[in-house]
Amino acid sequence: MHTDVQPRGARAGAGATSTARVAVAGATGYAGQELLRLLARHPAVELTTAMSSGATASARPLPALGHVWHGTIAPFAPDALARDADVVFLALPDAAAAEHAPALVAAGLRVIDLSGAFRLRDEASRARWYPETHAVPDLVAYGLTERERGHVAAARLVANPGCYPTATLLALAPLADAGLLVPGADIVVDAKSGVSGAGKTPSERTHFSECYGSVSAYGVFNHRHAAEIEQGVGGSHALTFVPHLVPLDRGILATIYVRVAPGTTEAGLADVYERAYAGATFVRLAGSALPEIKHVAHTNFCDIGWRVDPSGRAVLVSVIDNLVKGAAGQAVQNLNVMLGLDEETGLL
Ligand SMILES: NC(=O)c1ccc[n+]([C@@H]2O[C@H](COP(=O)([O-])OP(=O)(O)OC[C@H]3O[C@@H](n4cnc5c(N)ncnc54)[C@H](OP(=O)(O)O)[C@@H]3O)[C@@H](O)[C@H]2O)c1
Repeated sequence: MHTDVQPRGARAGAGATSTARVAVAGATGYAGQELLRLLARHPAVELTTAMSSGATASARPLPALGHVWHGTIAPFAPDALARDADVVFLALPDAAAAEHAPALVAAGLRVIDLSGAFRLRDEASRARWYPETHAVPDLVAYGLTERERGHVAAARLVANPGCYPTATLLALAPLADAGLLVPGADIVVDAKSGVSGAGKTPSERTHFSECYGSVSAYGVFNHRHAAEIEQGVGGSHALTFVPHLVPLDRGILATIYVRVAPGTTEAGLADVYERAYAGATFVRLAGSALPEIKHVAHTNFCDIGWRVDPSGRAVLVSVIDNLVKGAAGQAVQNLNVMLGLDEETGLL
């Protein structure tokens, strides 16, 4: 390990001067390619290794990234990760992350895992949604950066949040923290995602000819991101989460219906959000000018808007790019926090 990549607080900025060696496993996937794009231009890291599943026998280039990165993709080899990197990004299916992350942490690496394998704290919930996860290393942090900086800075393993939970919790959690949600009232999260959220392997649902020109709901009462959202909100709310597939390549828009105390104003919500996100570059508050996916596509921003009526019905709208703030961008943001760099490094 390089001694200069230890955590030094969330925003040590100019204090963090040296280069960390980083590697990406799952680099040929949608999230992995986005990681390569960001890390290749990141001024404070050296991208040493990028791996695919091992299905290919030898190293190969990745032509789609030819203009930003000239490395080659190697077959998956955990020993090489441990040898060549200080920090490893795992952009793998859940089962592969569940298998390899504990060993990499035990080998002294710091790991940022983009899968769901380590996100759920409750064991019963994890056993239901991520049965592949048997061992959870010490010092796991849930990497919703704006809300978990202290934990992320000290973590050996960061469980990068899911894309739907990132969009939803950044809008919802500050209201829960402020005690503004009416206890016991239903919360409805109606969310739309572009097709890259399902990864690069097309299925009958995600194939172009199936989803182009259509919008479909899926996973009703049966989506693991509901458990992750419930974990982040807490309280006694019945949460109904309905994801939809929309014919876009990337982006998430979550429309969230909640009850707040009658008389709560839009200015009151603005106060809560401004306090929650003071100094948070990547959360932009749009207020009643409701945000759209186009405002955040290809960026690490989460834009949040809201409307309230006098009876206490509130509608929150939150948008992100699923591959950036919902995956690779937030992972790099977490890397920056772990290394004591400015959180924006390599992301603006
Ligand atoms: N897509 C999103 O919007 C998004 C958002 C947040 C989180 N995530 C999570 O991030 C992870 C990656 O998602 P993705 O959408 O990028 O998936 P993807 O496009 O399907 O890519 C998966 C990557 O993992 C590699 N891989 C597959 N099985 C492997 C194994 N057993 N060992 C080593 N490598 C293996 C693949 O290599 P080959 O090219 O050789 O097959 C590929 O590089 C998933 O856990 C996903 O849930 C995705």
